[in-house]
Amino acid sequence: MKTLDSVLDRHQVIVCAGSGGVGKTTTAAAIALYGAQRGARTVVLTIDPARRLADALGLHEVSGEMGGGERQIPISGKGSLSALMLDQKGAWDALVERLAPSAEVRDRILGNRFYQHLSQSFAGSQEYMAVEQLCQLHDDGNYDLIVVDTPPTQHALDFLEAPQRIADFLDKNVIKWFVKPYFSAGWATFRFVNRTAGVVFRKLEEATGVAALSEVSEFFHAMGGLFEGFEERVRRVYRLLRAPETAFVLVASPEEQVLREAEHFCRTVAELHMSLRAVVFNRVHTGYSGNGHGADREHLESLLARVQAGAAAAALAENFLRVEEEARGDMVRMESFRRGLGKNVAVAEVPNFAADLHDMAGLAQMHPHLFTAAA
Ligand SMILES: Nc1ncnc2c1ncn2[C@@H]1O[C@H](COP(=O)(O)OP(=O)(O)O)[C@@H](O)[C@H]1O
Ligand SMILES: [Mg+2]
Repeated sequence: MKTLDSVLDRHQVIVCAGSGGVGKTTTAAAIALYGAQRGARTVVLTIDPARRLADALGLHEVSGEMGGGERQIPISGKGSLSALMLDQKGAWDALVERLAPSAEVRDRILGNRFYQHLSQSFAGSQEYMAVEQLCQLHDDGNYDLIVVDTPPTQHALDFLEAPQRIADFLDKNVIKWFVKPYFSAGWATFRFVNRTAGVVFRKLEEATGVAALSEVSEFFHAMGGLFEGFEERVRRVYRLLRAPETAFVLVASPEEQVLREAEHFCRTVAELHMSLRAVVFNRVHTGYSGNGHGADREHLESLLARVQAGAAAAALAENFLRVEEEARGDMVRMESFRRGLGKNVAVAEVPNFAADLHDMAGLAQMHPHLFTAAA
């Protein structure tokens, strides 16, 4: 089986994507740890890691603030491992700082209430900032390997579409409506003046929950000079996501609903001319007899019939059957999914471990399943 070894050897940027809760954060950290142990100067950009994993990665809260730069984690070997937690608000502020033409404009934007809201809770803001930070790590040039986790949104596609969505939202053709004088008269009047813009504005209200029109108008006035820079930035972000050094790794659990979404993700990645290089099936039920290939059902059922005598034994046998069935179901679903994948896509299967993977030893447990060389 082709596992992730060559993906790691041939790419500088690895983006772990997938539906919520499938193990993206854990997989990203495990891949980064492995790369670092093999000698690469590695950084992992994590988003919302489970508390204990954050601790293990040295991402403690510092004076009430999360985020706040890269932390070095001691590892054995020549490489190095740094971890970074996405700091959404900080990343927006840094972007404004970089693009603002003057200190005055910068302060007006940073102090604007609508901006503060936008930077924290605009739909897609976290997704966008993950790629924005990725770009920065890439531009800084301090790392051989950058592994990126993606936000805990339910849908994997949000991540791919967020930069475009934000670019559309901040498009200068849309913006021009927000800086008209009648704008601050209220959105009912506004809708009356222009239907299209009215629709845009309603969407904006829905997306942000902000109804303070003057704040919004003021924000767009202040942002005026920044948009050109922003558009260029979004183009840059997509360039990096499409670059040959960037590999997407789709993490999926072998469940029907997750796999359906995963199929959709694969199609969209291809449509966007990005490269899916690997699929990690995570939390696979292996059954007592290996990969679900083992004990055949009839045999087990006859076994179950024979042990009816003892209730405990029966319960045990029933449990055995259930586990075998889960394992077989996983296998069937994975096989069918795999048939739809290009032959250049590596596939790895990681079992569902008995305990959560919250520290370096836990992450290392994934390695033999992800990388042939580690097996
Ligand atoms: N193969 C696995 N076996 C057991 N627990 C796992 C496995 N993969 C992930 N987990 C656990 O599942 C939980 C969710 O994983 P996480 O990586 O945070 O998912 P995501 O980032 O996709 O939301 C974590 O507590 C993690 O330790
Ligand atoms: Mg996560």
